[in-house]
Amino acid sequence: MNWRVMKTAAAAALALGCATAGAQTVEVMHWWTSGGEGAAVGVLKKDLETRGVKWVDMAVAGGGGEAAMTALRARAVAGNPPTAAQLLGMAVTDWGNEGFLGDLNDVATKEGWDKVVPPALQRFAKFDGKWVAVPVNIHRPHWLWMNAKIFNDNGLKPPTTWDEFNAVADKLKAKGITPVAMGGQPWQEATAWEGIVLGMGGPDFYRKAVIEADPASLKSATMVKVFDQMRKIRGYVDRNFAGRDWNLATSMVIKGEAGMQLMGDWAKGEVISAKLTPGKEILCAVAPGTQGSYLFNTDFFAMFKVGADRRPAQLTMASAVMNPSFQEAFNLAKGSIPARSDVSGDKFDECGKKSIADLKTATAASHVYGSLAHGHAQPAAIQRAYLDVITKHFNSDMGSKAATEALAQAVLAAK
Ligand code: BGC
Repeated sequence: MNWRVMKTAAAAALALGCATAGAQTVEVMHWWTSGGEGAAVGVLKKDLETRGVKWVDMAVAGGGGEAAMTALRARAVAGNPPTAAQLLGMAVTDWGNEGFLGDLNDVATKEGWDKVVPPALQRFAKFDGKWVAVPVNIHRPHWLWMNAKIFNDNGLKPPTTWDEFNAVADKLKAKGITPVAMGGQPWQEATAWEGIVLGMGGPDFYRKAVIEADPASLKSATMVKVFDQMRKIRGYVDRNFAGRDWNLATSMVIKGEAGMQLMGDWAKGEVISAKLTPGKEILCAVAPGTQGSYLFNTDFFAMFKVGADRRPAQLTMASAVMNPSFQEAFNLAKGSIPARSDVSGDKFDECGKKSIADLKTATAASHVYGSLAHGHAQPAAIQRAYLDVITKHFNSDMGSKAATEALAQAVLAAK
């Protein structure tokens, strides 16, 4: 090999080496492992691939993300965090406080994120005035999903109050149909509970009892009724509910094995991935009594501090997630609505359009609050205090009054 050939080969090898070392790769931690969630991840993965970014998947199964959070902590404290991790609101602040998150302000300013992301989400996406996470969606946890055939066959209408809900459930039970599909996991029970708090107490009560953790509200007569309703629901679930994953409960409604499910709109992702039409075979309504208000939870991709070699891919991912057409495509699969206020809702189904319209109405009335079950109302320690009592009550014969007292006590101790 002569000198010139050697030089060319060396340059080519170097170029190849650089391309490999600097290969645009993102390692992403998330808990999206159900059918609908997997389809939404696929949209993101594909979008990144078209931008030359390779996706390294770090999926940790477990709805609500508890197991994923444990895995993330282990990686981060070992000094080896992923490029990005799915986090719910308050968790972004926690990781920011611990100094783990990188600064996205340059790209945020260049792309004008401040102007298109609702302030309620910016509060979580920013830490110390800097963008550290990108919001991928807006989920609404307080929905009721119903099997249309079961409802039609039995002459039932979507309930709009908890009394109507109980009347529907009693009718189904009398017919030998499981009224409510549920998985007995603390976050699922808390998802139902917060919908009842909002539906029975109204938005001001939700604010006092959940956002402000006001002891008098936690011990109030209204809260006693909330726990009474939880006890009612306990009587409407099947014998095998304990530990069941939320998507298996959704599938019971899809297959006609149960009439209803109280669950966030990620359940709609399952309906779509089963090739059914939300609003047609599976009906959607807000949880009884909650029309006019909007609880939300948003999945953020928090960007961890990474070495310079991983930074370009990370910034590409942040920009890709904020892209309006990506936000549309992703949320069409996920069941949620876009986190940008400038994305058209035209392509969304009836339930998605309702979510977009309801968010506008609730925003105008200042009736938008963060979800407790999904990390947007209280920091982790206080959230856990709520969840512990809710689940203990649901899975024992604890009385409603005793539950309210235990709740007030546990929340006070955690504060
Ligand atoms: C997340 C959703 C997810 C659901 C079930 C929620 O906390 O925000 O994205 O689909 O948990 O896993």
